[in-house]
Amino acid sequence: MNIYLIGMPASGKSSVGKVLAKKINYEFIDIDKYIEKKHNTSVKDIFALLGEDGFRQIESDVLREFYDKTNYVISCGGGIVVNASNKLLMNGVVVLIDVKLSELSKRVLADKKNSRPLFETKTVAQLYHERKDKYDYFKDIKVFNYNIKSCVNQILEKLGGNV
Ligand code: S3P
Repeated sequence: MNIYLIGMPASGKSSVGKVLAKKINYEFIDIDKYIEKKHNTSVKDIFALLGEDGFRQIESDVLREFYDKTNYVISCGGGIVVNASNKLLMNGVVVLIDVKLSELSKRVLADKKNSRPLFETKTVAQLYHERKDKYDYFKDIKVFNYNIKSCVNQILEKLGGNV
C-alpha cells in the first residue's frame, strides 16, 4: 500500500511525509522533487516552458509510475487535485493535511526559497477556496498539521494497524 499526502502548498506534506516514512519504514518521495530530478529542471521552468497543463501531465505520469509500487509515502504537489482523474491513479490511502488559511498565507510568504508559479497570479486564499472541495473529494482521511509530530501521530492513529 502507498500513502499519498495531499493538501495546500506549505501545508507540510514533505516534512510530515519524511518523518512518517521513517517511522513506518516506507520509502519517501516528493513528486515535485522527483520531477525536477528526472527532468533535470525546476517546477518553475516546467510551468514556463509547458504551462500548467504540461506540468499536470508530468505529475499524472509520476502517479502512474508509482501505481504498482508499494510501501511509499508520496508527497503530492498541492495541485494534484486539479485533475479529478488523478484519484484513480492513487493506489492506497489518501491523507489530507489541513492547515488554517491564515497559517498557510504566513508560511507561503515566509517561504522565499520555494517560488511557486501559481502564486504569481493567485493568492493563497483564492487557491484555498477553489480547491477546498477537491481536497475533500480526494481524501480518505484528514488530519490537522499543528506540528509535525502530532500530524504523524494522527495519521498513524487513523490508519490503525493498516500500515
Ligand atoms: C502547486 C504546488 C507546488 C508545485 C507547483 C504547483 C499547486 O507543490 O507542485 O508549484 O498547484 O498547488 P507544493 O504543494 O509542494 O508547494
